[in-house]
Amino acid sequence: MLIRLAEPEDARAVAEIHVEAWRAAYASILSEAFLASLSVASRQAFWAQFLAEKRGDLRVAMDVERMLGWINTGPCRDQDAATGEAEIWALYVSPEVWATGVGRELWASAKASLFKKGHRRCRLWVLAQNDRAIRFYQAAGFERDETPAKTFELGGATVEEIRLSCRLSVA
Ligand SMILES: CC(C)(COP(=O)(O)OP(=O)(O)OC[C@H]1O[C@@H](n2cnc3c(N)ncnc32)[C@H](O)[C@@H]1OP(=O)(O)O)[C@@H](O)C(=O)NCCC(=O)NCCS
Repeated sequence: MLIRLAEPEDARAVAEIHVEAWRAAYASILSEAFLASLSVASRQAFWAQFLAEKRGDLRVAMDVERMLGWINTGPCRDQDAATGEAEIWALYVSPEVWATGVGRELWASAKASLFKKGHRRCRLWVLAQNDRAIRFYQAAGFERDETPAKTFELGGATVEEIRLSCRLSVA
């Protein structure tokens, strides 16, 4: 598996994984109709623009033939973030290869890059019902912090997001 920064021509594969992973991960959380309505084309347009404008770090995991997953990181967007605090904006692995180490490799690569850029803490928001992702992040050293959960509507369902954070180190 190779981890590299995304190129503009990766937008389609990034969008496909984005939609596939949403449908698989949120099947028991969000409505079937909402998940069916997700569009690869509109996500592709979003990622193409993101990559053209070089808006943040997007790293992709590749095997010989195809993309396996991706991670998007950058400065923390929370209002209470300290200078230099980072955030995992998104992390999506193709459901076909879940639990084979792709997520771990992507995070290891992003973490090393964030550390090199001077970041010493990292945060993320995750749906409280997303057990698989929470287990993954806890195994990577993230813990829930004191910030209250955010409740909002998504595709007609009421969901909660919780904040996790961890200290970044070289190891
Ligand atoms: C959460 C997510 C990113 C994790 O990625 P992943 O590639 O499946 O993660 P890994 O394979 O590195 O690790 C996951 C599990 O596989 C296990 N694993 C890792 N490498 C392994 C290997 N070579 N063989 C067997 N098991 C392995 C890990 O121990 C871990 O086990 P656990 O779930 O029992 O704790 C992925 O499931 C995903 O894309 N989910 C949908 C999107 C999502 O929820 N994103 C987060 C939004 S905030």
